[in-house]
Amino acid sequence: MEKIGVAIIGMGTVGTGVAKILLDHGDRTARHAGKTLWLTHAVVRNLKKDRGIDLPEGVLTDDVDKVINDPSVKVVVQLIGGVDEAKTVMLRLLEQGKDVVTANKALMAQHGPELFDKARQLGRSIAFEASVAGGIPIITNISQCLSANQIQSLNGILNGTSNYIITRMDLEGASYDDAVKEAQDLGYAEADPAMDVDGTDAAQKLSILAHLAFGARVNWSEIPKRGIDQLDSLDLKYAKQLGYRIKLIGVSRLTDEGLQAVVGPMLVKNGTPLAEVRANYNAISVDGDAVGPVFYHGQGAGQMPTASAVVADLIDTAVGRTAITFQTLELWSDEANRIEMAAPGNLIGRFYLRFNVEDVPNVLAQIAGVLGKHDISIASVIQHDNDLADGVVPLVIITKETRESDAESAIAEIEKLSCVKSKTERLRILDA
Ligand code: HSE
Repeated sequence: MEKIGVAIIGMGTVGTGVAKILLDHGDRTARHAGKTLWLTHAVVRNLKKDRGIDLPEGVLTDDVDKVINDPSVKVVVQLIGGVDEAKTVMLRLLEQGKDVVTANKALMAQHGPELFDKARQLGRSIAFEASVAGGIPIITNISQCLSANQIQSLNGILNGTSNYIITRMDLEGASYDDAVKEAQDLGYAEADPAMDVDGTDAAQKLSILAHLAFGARVNWSEIPKRGIDQLDSLDLKYAKQLGYRIKLIGVSRLTDEGLQAVVGPMLVKNGTPLAEVRANYNAISVDGDAVGPVFYHGQGAGQMPTASAVVADLIDTAVGRTAITFQTLELWSDEANRIEMAAPGNLIGRFYLRFNVEDVPNVLAQIAGVLGKHDISIASVIQHDNDLADGVVPLVIITKETRESDAESAIAEIEKLSCVKSKTERLRILDA
């Protein structure tokens, strides 16, 4: 059988998983690729580190030039983290005539269009299924399988680490710090876990998906984002009492005012599919004008789920499928089809508001008065007397639909009232 040389640059959690599949299941990959995927090099920084895998003699190296200069290497799995070095190496690989497979969402979110243009000029391809939602084949699905549709909305749980942490806190009462440590030990978290818990990772993934789904060039850093790092476990408890779970959600949807995109912890109604997503699982709910609603669910982080997506890309590239589908991503750079972003303040939705107020008469009337002045209607109010401390009590208000900018103005005014003792928690409610 014909052999095709494959190299891996970066033997962290995912790279090691990819090598395991290539070495342990060569018969399976050959059957699908129609040729043997022959692992020629595995490039690491530290040759001495134990990675729990036995590589064939001569495969391990700390010299990336061996890959770049070896003509037998046709496809490179590039798993270098960060952006600058990863971009330089990718450009060198493409210039040397190699196709690339990557899981680096930061690189794709920041420099994807530029790298794609370069790859096309050189007649090469870049496959990046593993960059979003780990093992869920969402890139292939929205760019190929749903291509008959105008996607109307795409909402998802896109960060496995955050979902793991919230699940452990919510269902098992774990502390935030313990849950973060566990997510790191399990290999879910980024090298810098702050990127998981502050919403950066989810915003980067949402920008990639928005590119594909809506033809919108969304700069991830312009997506309003918040993570789970400032979330108070009190709100997990109150949300549960109201029949919701809090999840870190990336929302994108077409509106008359353009594409709306936002990432943040949101209340999701119990019993709906997104509310039931646990642990390191991701899920994406897509609504297309022809297909209607479609729901994807699977492990969004972890060694073998992510390696599954990388190896599928490798096989597609070896077969030549990526070379064909990569061309259709040309739409991305078509100015005429570009969709503009809507102003974030114009987002319409319901909100969960937690005010910390003095437990004295007339407080509710004052707060309700300000909300009314901003045309915000109240759906429910609960004062949590059990959590009264030092004369201050949490007061939770669920609003009816309102414009985000109106909610912000109202909160700013309410926080000036002398009965309001600390900053207000404001969480979006995800309605279908
Ligand atoms: N750190 C990422 C997550 C891994 O937790 O989802 C996959 O991108």
